[in-house]
Amino acid sequence: MLWLKAFHIILVVSWFAGLFYLPRIFVNQAMAKEQVEKDRLNLMAGKLYRFVTPIGALAVITGLWLWIAYSDIFTGGWLHVKTTLVAGLVGYHLYCGHLVKEFAADRNTRSHVWFRFFNEVPVLVLLVVVILVVVKPF
Ligand code: HEM
Repeated sequence: MLWLKAFHIILVVSWFAGLFYLPRIFVNQAMAKEQVEKDRLNLMAGKLYRFVTPIGALAVITGLWLWIAYSDIFTGGWLHVKTTLVAGLVGYHLYCGHLVKEFAADRNTRSHVWFRFFNEVPVLVLLVVVILVVVKPF
């Protein structure tokens, strides 16, 4: 179980590296004027999204594996709230994939300010999820 939890944490940290960096690229894409800069940022965003998606999937799979394989140990409201927040995070990740395509097709209409607020969502989720899983308040 400890090996599984260790890999769960490694995958979660790697997933969040992508969830923190990709929206930052969106901020720069929303400010970019020159086509050469837009092309470079589109390439970076596409590569990062394709790289971090399987990592995110494995983070969720190892979490569900921990829950199902050790459901006699891991129970409580914290896990239900955590899993619900993680489902929202998966939605956020998939929406980032949609935004990668919108920028590649030069169809984005949102401002860089909007993306700066969008960039903070994973930070808030990480804050709540880590407190839930370590403190287990309920
Ligand atoms: C559906 C997705 C997920 C499920 C079902 C899940 C489930 C679990 C379970 C059962 C544990 C073991 C808890 C313990 O050892 O006390 C765990 C550990 C952990 N999870 Fe997840 N997890 C999921 C996704 C995530 C995500 C997205 C994050 C990050 C925000 C995360 C962060 C952690 C951390 C930091 C630990 C280690 C806690 C400790 O050692 O005390 N998990 N997870």
